[in-house]
Amino acid sequence: MTTSWNYPDQATQDELKKIASAIVAPGKGILAADESVATMGKRLADIGVENTEENRRKYRQLLLTTDKSLADNISGVIFFHETVYQKADDGTPFPELLNKKGIIPGIKVDTGVVPLFGSNNECTTQGLDDLAKRCAQYKKDGCHFAKWRCVLKISPNTPSIQSLIENANVLARYASICQANRIVPIVEPEILPDGDHDILTCQKTTETVLSYVYKALADHNVFLEGTLLKPNMVTAGQACPNKATPEQVAEATVTAFQRRVPAAVPGVTFLSGGQSEEEATVNLNAINKFPGKKPWTLTFSYGRALQASVLRAWQGKDENVQAGQQELLKRAKANGEASMGKYVAGSVEGKAGDAGLFIKNHAY
Ligand code: 13P
Repeated sequence: MTTSWNYPDQATQDELKKIASAIVAPGKGILAADESVATMGKRLADIGVENTEENRRKYRQLLLTTDKSLADNISGVIFFHETVYQKADDGTPFPELLNKKGIIPGIKVDTGVVPLFGSNNECTTQGLDDLAKRCAQYKKDGCHFAKWRCVLKISPNTPSIQSLIENANVLARYASICQANRIVPIVEPEILPDGDHDILTCQKTTETVLSYVYKALADHNVFLEGTLLKPNMVTAGQACPNKATPEQVAEATVTAFQRRVPAAVPGVTFLSGGQSEEEATVNLNAINKFPGKKPWTLTFSYGRALQASVLRAWQGKDENVQAGQQELLKRAKANGEASMGKYVAGSVEGKAGDAGLFIKNHAY
């Protein structure tokens, strides 16, 4: 019968709910430090540091050994596979460094974006084949939430039905496999900011993408209370001559979610998507200040917008580790305030200033 289904058993539901609500606790959000080896290489190249395993370890060690007050504003860190198994100078495994501070380790489980044959330059995301096995192992190794990023593109003829259906289904299947292994799935359908489209086009596209995603999650019996959504904010395209104000971004974003994100979803953890550090904070703040129904926590899961200043301060030098950590603490606090609508624009200045962090056709 098509109306017969099962959600996870009660103990699994309780565990998933507990993890998800700890991640979106008031004033907290996620540090996305799950750059693949190649992407981390680009970040390191920007500061003249070679992309070796040791340099990646040293950089992640800087992030993870930041003062325990980081936990006031960071509830979870997303790792890349390699990082889960690296250790600090004193031999402490990286997940353990987080546990000691009360920060939850998470893991990127997709294995990357691949072209969708027959489409108009669109893509899907791979990694399902051995996902159950990998999730079981990651859970044993201390990771309690996961991320899978799908990418959708705005152009006159995209996203196509092909990519809407494919990306929604792959996200739902991923979410279901995570939940079977007691891991909270962060569902990330990122609509890229590339293009000259206006904010209304982005809003409508976001609504369409989310409608496909939540239909697929329902079809796969995903327990929504044990999931988080990681979307783009609704903005005008990078090349659009009319840049939207934070208030316009807030209205378009919250309106799209009111229409398409079920109230059972505990939280929305935005990606920064190439916004500058300050822009990502100010827009998150405006979203939280926007009056109207918001039954989900609205917070951050930033990669570039939490790390740009850290990297600039560090420059690959041991003597700059503390300066890098100070940048992380400052930006985490600013975003923690923004997640409660309490950030005062311009009150936190970072080393990266207001530099845009946009990367064309961004891969993670
Ligand atoms: P950005 O915040 O740099 O967009 O990245 C977050 C992320 O995890 C994208 O998958």
